[in-house]
Amino acid sequence: MHEKATSPQASHDYIEVRSPGRINLIGEHTDYNGGFVLPAAIDKQIIVKIATNGSDDSCSLEAKNLSENFDFSLSRIEPQSQSWANYALGMIHEFQKLGLSMRGFDASIEGNVPIGGGMSSSAAFECSFGFALNAIFKLGLERMDIIQAAQRAENDFVGTQCGVMDIFTSVMGKADHVIMLDCRSLDYSYFPLQLGDYELLLLNTNVSHSLADTAYNTRRQECETGAGLFQKKYPKVNQLRDVDAAMLESFYDTLPDPINRRCRHVVTENLRVQEATKVLAQGNLQRMGELMYASHNSLRDDYEVSCPELDFLVHETVHRPEVLGSRMMGGGFGGCTLSLIHSPAREQFVEEIAKRYKESFSLELTPYHVKLADGTGFMPA
Ligand code: GLA
Repeated sequence: MHEKATSPQASHDYIEVRSPGRINLIGEHTDYNGGFVLPAAIDKQIIVKIATNGSDDSCSLEAKNLSENFDFSLSRIEPQSQSWANYALGMIHEFQKLGLSMRGFDASIEGNVPIGGGMSSSAAFECSFGFALNAIFKLGLERMDIIQAAQRAENDFVGTQCGVMDIFTSVMGKADHVIMLDCRSLDYSYFPLQLGDYELLLLNTNVSHSLADTAYNTRRQECETGAGLFQKKYPKVNQLRDVDAAMLESFYDTLPDPINRRCRHVVTENLRVQEATKVLAQGNLQRMGELMYASHNSLRDDYEVSCPELDFLVHETVHRPEVLGSRMMGGGFGGCTLSLIHSPAREQFVEEIAKRYKESFSLELTPYHVKLADGTGFMPA
């Protein structure tokens, strides 16, 4: 689907674009290792409304949920301390580097993707904003161009070394479908998620530990170190994606700790994604649940990106027959768990686990029942 992101609203004096947050069924910390992920866009979104303002250079942004404004000039795009604005400025910066020209505009941003909930509100913002600029200034970019610009904006301008999963999913999501994405080639396929009387439940810990950003970058470096060590023995290895189970087993004891465990997580997680794709197609939810638990244990013990709140929520489900599987979702150190739960039991389960969570951590638990939605698009006129 390399459709041009042009506007059906050209006759209006403004353009309104929505871009969704995402979940990830399985495949965590594999994207920046060139591996596989199984995400889906959800029915929570960021909406950008944009209009030209007659000026050549002056622009304004209004973040409605935060009640904050930011004014700037197109001729002076620099990273700001007001961090939310950087997602928009980063996209403009990338478009300017491509030699694309824009004029003054006013844009407002609002949405319901929970900030810090691990559902990628930042990717949703970047993608809806990039898409809106592309439409209003007729920049002629395709979806893949916007994905690549958003990733460069996030890595180079915002300074987060994230992989491609969140941005790709926000732009390319499809209602009722999950995406099997090869994060190296960007080959992808959709398949329908049919869970019968089961459903996906998100539980937001409502914590976001400060360790998250530094640990994320450290993990990336550890993976690169690991890939480099494998490459000495197996010259064809460029990324951990190229390491298979047999190579891992034969080389594991020679790798220093924690590099060995980081590599084991990535290699086994890639295998889990591939198996998950098969078992979901077969409707084998029992096995899907087992893979989710295995993913969580690996993220907790080998990759060390979980936290007590996430571990508590996953552990609470282990002996509940109505839950087939559960795991932390996203980068870690907070955000949500994702569980596969028997729909009729959801309400009572949520009530009980929220009570126990509050007793243990003095924190509210926020449940979300999400539907799988389409990727970036125009709001109906
Ligand atoms: C964050 C990043 C993604 C991905 C996940 C972990 O959400 O933005 O690129 O690495 O963490 O799977």
